[in-house]
Amino acid sequence: MTEAKLEALLKESRSFPPSAAFAANANAQPSIYAEAAADPQAWWRTQADRLTWEHAPTTTLEWDLPFAKWFSDGTINASVNCLDRHVAAGKGDKVAYYWVSDIEGESRTITYRELLAMVAKAANAFTELGVKRGDRVAVYLPMIPETVVTMLAIARIGAIHSVVFAGFSADALSSRILDSDCQYVVTADAAMRRGTPSPLKPAVDEALQSCPNVKTVVVVKRTGADINWVEGRDHWWDDVMAPQSDQHTPEFFPAEQTLLIMYTSGTTAKPKGIFHTTGGYLTHCAATYHYIFDHKVDTDIMWTAADIGWITGHSYIVYGPLVAGATQVMYEGLPDSGGRDRWWKIIEEFKVTKLYTAPTTIRTLMKWGDDLPASHDLSSLVLLGTVGEPINPEAWMWYRKNVGRDNCPIVDTWWQTETGGIMVTPLPGITATKPGAAMTPFPGISVDVVDNEGHSVGNGEGGYLVVTAPWPGMTRGIYGDPERFKATYWERFPGMYFAGDGAKRDPDGDIWLLGRIDDVMNISGHRLSTTEVEHALVGHPMVAEAAVVGASDETTGQAIVAFVTLKLSAEQATQDQAPLIEELRQHVAKTISPIAKPRQIILTPDLPKTRSGKIMRRLLRDVAEHRTLGDVTTLTDPTVVNMIAGLLETNGSED
Ligand code: WTA
Repeated sequence: MTEAKLEALLKESRSFPPSAAFAANANAQPSIYAEAAADPQAWWRTQADRLTWEHAPTTTLEWDLPFAKWFSDGTINASVNCLDRHVAAGKGDKVAYYWVSDIEGESRTITYRELLAMVAKAANAFTELGVKRGDRVAVYLPMIPETVVTMLAIARIGAIHSVVFAGFSADALSSRILDSDCQYVVTADAAMRRGTPSPLKPAVDEALQSCPNVKTVVVVKRTGADINWVEGRDHWWDDVMAPQSDQHTPEFFPAEQTLLIMYTSGTTAKPKGIFHTTGGYLTHCAATYHYIFDHKVDTDIMWTAADIGWITGHSYIVYGPLVAGATQVMYEGLPDSGGRDRWWKIIEEFKVTKLYTAPTTIRTLMKWGDDLPASHDLSSLVLLGTVGEPINPEAWMWYRKNVGRDNCPIVDTWWQTETGGIMVTPLPGITATKPGAAMTPFPGISVDVVDNEGHSVGNGEGGYLVVTAPWPGMTRGIYGDPERFKATYWERFPGMYFAGDGAKRDPDGDIWLLGRIDDVMNISGHRLSTTEVEHALVGHPMVAEAAVVGASDETTGQAIVAFVTLKLSAEQATQDQAPLIEELRQHVAKTISPIAKPRQIILTPDLPKTRSGKIMRRLLRDVAEHRTLGDVTTLTDPTVVNMIAGLLETNGSED
């Protein structure tokens, strides 16, 4: 056995084919795989016809590894594809967004015609403020319609948006502004969180102290919070929009015009400015949106419950759905703004048909109890999706039963900021889904699972996920750093894109994601994925969430340390932790194998998470190995790690 193989020990044999009715009406029919495989580039070229081009491309792919160009002689405008063409086709009165406020009872309905008028005004306003083609504009805004308007207006005039998640600190914002030399910032006075303003403008003021090139800041008034004002630099959104015409004649740009930069963390402290261009990215978003979410333009109400500050929001709240002319719900608040059943109320009120969210949110909703979704009418839902991390089978089954009423296909979609759009996923009318598996490459996408030497592994074996052919939505690089782009993604396995994720092929050849490579543990020579152990723990009826890390161990190389949060009722019932901890260790031994039995289990009320909801295993590893803690600034609650370190000292069972 080569070193790279993972012990794929967790068995999952359940499988759920789509209903005959869903399958019969699905946008993707089984022939799609063979059609795309026959000539992937030609297939992608037909997908590019989902877009409106000024000059349709006659070229498809130009590939100078690792630099791709797609459809390069085509000319296009992203905002025209999202707006003008729908209005021109008589769809101006169709709702683009039902915007739902953090505050219950408040909402805004925005049609395609209205959105186009807002974007035209904003394009005129930004032009007047000096924004030109190719300029970078930082966007630091909460989940409000103006965020979409800003992005589309920037794209419309050929400038580049760099959206920075509004939960990031002033430091994180300034380093991103500086890295891509943004000269403009669009922000808001504050975000609304559980009915209370959470300030944003002060972070911009602080960030800009180290960004002398920013001369212009546009501020949306969201909450009316008191803010500091820099005369000459700061402009109220309403003041700059009011005098503008709601007509704007768009220019068309080459397909490879840069559309967006999205920063993502790498292994060093310096964030990577992943950039995407226009024609290929939009083609990828449009095709995946159509087939994976099985978009039905006349009946769908799509709700991607993600933040626009992440790539999921870019591709599946903004570009994919708008290109398709979809009607969406866009929700400003937290899952429990106004009560723990807020999501179910929104689905019921707006008759949401498709829901796309992250496993961590699903587990939170699960923790809050089955009776909340059960007390609302969720029968409008026809399809569910997940993204962002491996979903444990228990959460998947809970989602299927309690949200999907055993009646909705679930698409577990694997992709990354770098990939632009979804890469590995079930197709909802075709795939018999398995709880926890992303299953199959999307048509036209070639992925493989390889061992240390880059050789394809067999069925039933694990290794590293790679992409073996260029695809339209692929990042064109790291902004300003082509060398880092090559080194990070293209040198580990020559000729292949290295995603950094572990994966296994099950005996049927279906793909399961096993978490980031650095989440892979080596216990007595057995490679085990943290995810598999977490799945086992979460499979215990008392466990709500689990994070597992490999900590160094004198005898076994690495040993498993598990951080576990309990369900509310279990927390109340457990006075003496020792018997439960032992029960959990035995449970893992039974579910996976005795080699997977955690050395230590620490019961903790909370886990450290990034603002996008990913558990920070790196920090937990530091805690488990008693190392000084690294950077905690990207956490939602930096105090959680110290609390856990304290728990480890006092109650971690070790034997
Ligand atoms: C993880 C989010 C398992 C993975 C779109 C990837 C997943 C990273 C899945 C990218 C999934 C995303 N199953 N793991 N369905 N989707 N991931 O850039 O580790 O925020 O490399 O993009 O999330 O995160 P990013």
